[in-house]
This record gives sequence, structure tokens and C-alpha cells, in this order.
Amino acid sequence: VKLWWPLAGITLLGLAAWAPPTKPKVAKWSVILGGDMDGYLSPCGCTSPMTGGLRRRATATQELSFGDRTVILDNGSLAGGTSTQEQMKAQTAAEALRAMGATAIHFTSADAPLGQGLALSMQALSGNRLVTDSVQGGSVTLKQLVEKGPFLVSAASTDPTALANFGGQTLSDDQVATDLVVKAQARQRAPILLLHGSHVDAVRLATAHPKLALIQYRTTGNPPPKAERVGNVLLATAGEHGKSIVRLIWGPKGFEAYAVVSLGPQFADDPKISRIYDNYLKRVDQANLLAEVPRRETVAFAGSKACAPCHQTATKVWQSSAHAHALATLETKHEDRDPECVPCHVTGLESTRGFMSKQETPQFAFVGCESCHGPALDHSKSPATNPLPKVGESACAPCHTSLNSPNFDFAKYWKRVQH
Ligand code: HEC
Ligand code: HEC
Ligand code: HEC
Ligand code: HEC
Repeated sequence: VKLWWPLAGITLLGLAAWAPPTKPKVAKWSVILGGDMDGYLSPCGCTSPMTGGLRRRATATQELSFGDRTVILDNGSLAGGTSTQEQMKAQTAAEALRAMGATAIHFTSADAPLGQGLALSMQALSGNRLVTDSVQGGSVTLKQLVEKGPFLVSAASTDPTALANFGGQTLSDDQVATDLVVKAQARQRAPILLLHGSHVDAVRLATAHPKLALIQYRTTGNPPPKAERVGNVLLATAGEHGKSIVRLIWGPKGFEAYAVVSLGPQFADDPKISRIYDNYLKRVDQANLLAEVPRRETVAFAGSKACAPCHQTATKVWQSSAHAHALATLETKHEDRDPECVPCHVTGLESTRGFMSKQETPQFAFVGCESCHGPALDHSKSPATNPLPKVGESACAPCHTSLNSPNFDFAKYWKRVQH
């Protein structure tokens, strides 16, 4: 008899866990804002928990969607530059956002330097989702004005001249907002403006166009934890580097809920987006971008094995440290040919005499003695005539950066590799 209550409790818990998620009774809409990735398609993974990335974003988006009544907006600036690798990222992001079911992807003045040819391929990969209203007409088909459910969406850059190549006529953000409001009223839709511009620009436009329902702007740092309004206009941003998304709920009285969702490891990698991301890594590998990293002339490296006969204690400590398998760590993530990762996970990538590839230079395929002590072939042949310079904390700095090793503290870290 005494067992009855605890058992009932377990049954109830079980039922609660199995209950289907409650669907809203009135036709509410889920509006999910992301963007301003600037090339950060994946969390670097150097420390946990790291936030962000398209693979997690897809899972979170799925969980927060209301099926067909979902609007997914990306405020653009997909890549962080125009290099070959950034071009690949821009294409990968466009493809991934299509797979995610994005409603509109802003093609901003920061995306414009990628050029017309790439914009065309991105437009195809995105399934025709790239939007700007800052230019009208022209050779490349960037979309304008997207309508879905109760919304009409336009996209504007504060510096439209950067987009001049993409259309016949450039429009100021103010003109875009004016047009949007007029058309939204005619179609009885709520006007949403995707803005490649700052908070100050968003406030200016919200003040001048009080009928806008929402302005998504751009910022550094994280999105504000609470919704901000100027009059009736909701201002929102997804923050920088694709670390967060913002989820809004639209009901009969307008936007009624605002939540910032930080893309931590609680969101599993979406399998479809993971495949797209793995293809990107394969392209990076096949294009051999690693061979293109700038290198300078240095004296020769010897490899950590060469030090072992004379420095047994140091060798033992090093072999059991994380440094000794730093490239293997990247291999498990298929990132071992990515120039954005390899420099800190091998020996001497910055030198003409250092790491080339695991096959050509297996003796440098980890963070070796010479990652900290510098090239030491001469020293290992004749130590007395080639003493090495003293090294200290500054030897760690190029790799243990605030981004890749935020908890770095020399005293603590040195203790773990002291020799
Ligand atoms: C600027 C140097 C640098 C770059 C670039 C870099 N890493 Fe790292 N990585 C580190 C350092 C330093 C650590 C150790 C961090 C710590 O423990 O404080 C590390 C650790 C890791 C770990 C181990 C994490 C763990 O908890 O065991 C993984 C995985 C990793 N990096 C993956 C990557 C990937 C993938 C990239 C490229 C997208 C990358 N790294 C780029 C320096 C770098
Ligand atoms: C043939 C033996 C030998 C080899 C091989 C050798 N060393 Fe040395 N190393 C020495 C000797 C001897 C000293 C001087 C020790 C002293 O003065 O206390 C030394 C000193 C050092 C020092 C202290 C700074 C200095 O130069 O006085 C460092 C650091 C060092 N070695 C790193 C390395 C590294 C890294 C390698 C492999 C690339 C290496 N050594 C290979 C023999 C060797
Ligand atoms: C060439 C880049 C590089 C340099 C220089 C470097 N590290 Fe590292 N360090 C790494 C990487 C990469 C990792 C992660 C390796 C892995 O887990 O695969 C790491 C990991 C570590 C770890 C293990 C962290 C953990 O949580 O297990 C310690 C400790 C450490 N480094 C200390 C230092 C210290 C102290 C210095 C300077 C004296 C230094 N490192 C210099 C790249 C570097
Ligand atoms: C993560 C960076 C790092 C790596 C990897 C590393 N060292 Fe060092 N090593 C240091 C630093 C920093 C010092 C200086 C410590 C000090 O002055 O207290 C040092 C000191 C030394 C010394 C001088 C010790 C003394 O008593 O003065 C030798 C010899 C040496 N290292 C050899 C090696 C060899 C051999 C390897 C590879 C098996 C290696 N180190 C790997 C950072 C590193």
C-alpha cells in the first residue's frame, strides 16, 4: 500500500513526458529571426559549451515552428569576406537556409562584394529566397517584397550604393520603408522590414514609419533579453555571429511574445544541415585551401621525435598532453583540412618549413615542442652552438585566444603541461 503513491507519481511523470506538445488554438504565427552570421556557420568547438551554428539553428527552428504558420527570416550577411572560403560559406549558408525552410534571406550591402556571379549561384541554392528592396530591376534576380501569411517583408540596406551593381535604381532605406507600408496597407498585411543597419537606424525608421510591425536590425553582441518597442514598432535583432535566434509569436493583437534562444549544445545537430556542412568541408579540402595560407621563411623544424633522446622528461609530459593529439581532434570533426582550424592544431603552419599535410609532414601533425619553442632543427643537431630563446606565457597567446580558449589562465594551464 505504501508503494502506491510513488508509483502513481512515476506514471504521471511518464504521461507528462509522452503528451504531445500543445498547439495554439487560435491561428497564431511563429516568426523566427536569425542572421548576421558573417561567416560563423559553425561554433568553433574549441571549448564547451560554445554556442551557434547552422546545424543547431535548424533543430531549434524546427522545435519553435508552428508548421505552415511559421515565418523564418534571415537578416543576411552570410559570409565574412570574399575569399574562396567565404564564397563557399555564402553558398553553403544559402543552401542550408533553403533546407531550413527560410521565408526570406536578406542579401545585404555586406553580401554585395561577393559579386553578381556568386549572387546568382546563391540565389539558385537558396531556392530563390534572396531578397533586397534597396535596388530595383537589373541583371541579377534578387527578389523583392515577400508575402507570407499575415506578413509582407521588405529588406533594405542603409548603404544601398554598395548594391548598385545589382539593379537599375537604388532606393534609400526610408524609401523602402515608405513603399512597404503603402503596399502592406493595400494588401492588409503587417509590414516587416529586414534592415542591414544599426539600432540607431532602426529607431530612426521606426519613428518615421510608425505603421511598421517589426524592424530586424544588426548589432554586435547578444540580442537584448527583452523586447523593445518604438511606438508600436517592435525592434529585434538576432545578435552577432549566428549564436542566437529570436522567436516571436504573432496573434490577433500583433506580436505577443519575444524570446531569445541561445544556440547551445542542448540543440542537436540537424542531420540534413550536417550533410550540407560536411559537403562544404569536403569542398574546402578538395580546393586545397590549406595550401594557400600565407607562409614566411624560417629556419627548419625538427619534429618532436627528434627532441626525445635528450629531453625525456619534457617528452613524456608532452606525449600525455592534449597538444600531442590536437590534429586528431580536428579529424574527428572533419575539420582537419580547414585553414580556419588547422593553424592552431599543428606545428609551424605559418612557416615554409612547417606542417603541409598529414601525409607529407606527419612529424608536424600536432601541437609539438616547436609550436612553443620555435623551429629547432639546428639546436637538435648541435645544442651547444644553437641555444633556443627563452619562452614563456607569450608562446601560448597565438593559440589560446579569448575566442578559442576563453578560460585560459597561464598559471593554471602551464601546471598541466609543465616540464
Ligand atoms: C586561434 C587558435 C585556434 C583556432 C583557429 C582553432 N582552435 Fe580549436 N582549440 C584551440 C585551443 C587553444 C584549444 C584548447 C582550448 C582550451 O582547452 O582552453 C582548442 C580546442 C579545440 C577542441 C577540443 C575541445 C575540447 O573540449 O576538447 C576542438 C574540438 C577544436 N578546438 C576544434 C576546432 C575547430 C573545429 C576549429 C575551426 C573551426 C578550431 N578548433 C580552430 C585553438 C584554436
Ligand atoms: C642532442 C641532444 C639534444 C636534442 C636532440 C635537443 N636538445 Fe634541447 N637541449 C640540449 C642541451 C644539451 C641543452 C642545454 C641544456 C642546458 O644548458 O641546461 C638543451 C636545451 C634546450 C632548451 C632550453 C633552452 C636552451 O636552448 O638552452 C630547450 C627549450 C630545448 N633544448 C628544446 C629542444 C627541442 C624543442 C628539441 C627538439 C626539436 C631539442 N631541444 C632537441 C640537447 C638537445
Ligand atoms: C600552436 C597552438 C598552441 C600553442 C602555441 C599552445 N597551445 Fe595549448 N592547446 C592548443 C590546442 C589546439 C589545444 C587543444 C588540443 C586538443 O584537445 O586536441 C590545447 C590544449 C591545451 C591544454 C589542455 C586543455 C584541456 O582542457 O585539457 C593546456 C593545459 C594547454 N593547451 C596549455 C598551453 C600552454 C600553457 C601554452 C603556452 C606555454 C600553450 N598551451 C600553447 C594549441 C596551442
Ligand atoms: C605548450 C608550449 C610548449 C610545448 C608544447 C613544449 N614546451 Fe618546453 N617549455 C615551454 C615553456 C613556456 C617553457 C619555459 C618554462 C619556464 O621558464 O618556466 C619550456 C621549457 C622547456 C625546457 C627548459 C626547461 C628548463 O629546465 O629550463 C626544455 C628543455 C623544453 N621546454 C623542452 C621541450 C620539449 C623537448 C618539448 C616537446 C617534447 C617541449 N618543450 C614542448 C613551453 C612548451
